[in-house]
Amino acid sequence: MTKPSIRVVVFDAYGTLFDVYSIGALAEQLYPGQGVALSVLWRDKQIEYTRLISLSDSNPEGSRHYQSFWDITRASLRYALARLGLVHTSANEDALMAQYAQLSPFPENLGVLQALRQRGVATAILSNGSPEMLQSAVHSAGMSDLLGAVLSVDSVRQFKTTPTSYQIVTDHFGFAPADVLFVSSNAWDALGATWFGFTTLWVNRQNLPAEAIGPAPHHIGRDLTAVLQVLG
Ligand code: LAC
Repeated sequence: MTKPSIRVVVFDAYGTLFDVYSIGALAEQLYPGQGVALSVLWRDKQIEYTRLISLSDSNPEGSRHYQSFWDITRASLRYALARLGLVHTSANEDALMAQYAQLSPFPENLGVLQALRQRGVATAILSNGSPEMLQSAVHSAGMSDLLGAVLSVDSVRQFKTTPTSYQIVTDHFGFAPADVLFVSSNAWDALGATWFGFTTLWVNRQNLPAEAIGPAPHHIGRDLTAVLQVLG
């Protein structure tokens, strides 16, 4: 077997480039004592809804239940507030959603993207995020000049981890899956990408256990600098 030659590095967005848990500070301010619980439940529900929709859409008609990740994010916030018995106000919802559009990047990320650019390595994002929210996050994180394609699953109206969603990358670049280094901090996303055939790097920022099903990712790191080590 020949070693794949990486031709593009493709990043997941939320949790990998942008810190979704940075919302916890605002959530804590609005709902003292519940900030962590709210941000974790919000995120979990958001991902659960993407799976519920994509599974329910896998029929001949397809895409009947699809809605944008932005709308799913708002709906899952409402669910998380209700589940935790927290008061919902339009002002709090708008404040938390606005924060979602401008998430903090992880501290090492700009340096890694700059290093990739200097080396002439092609880069992209593949995210569940809708195009508008991705553009907003990329811009506010100062990454506009550091990333190549910003690819959204919105073009196929299916969420990760469907093969069709990962195929957006291979269709866009025309590369074999193994020649793509797919980088995600979400273990489930790294597994879906490994199943698809990408070469994968799981950035295990939170020191979590590996998924207990499926193949291990090809590489595991603690932060985004692991990308530079994988490329050698
Ligand atoms: C994304 C989420 C799933 O950016 O992290 O696709």
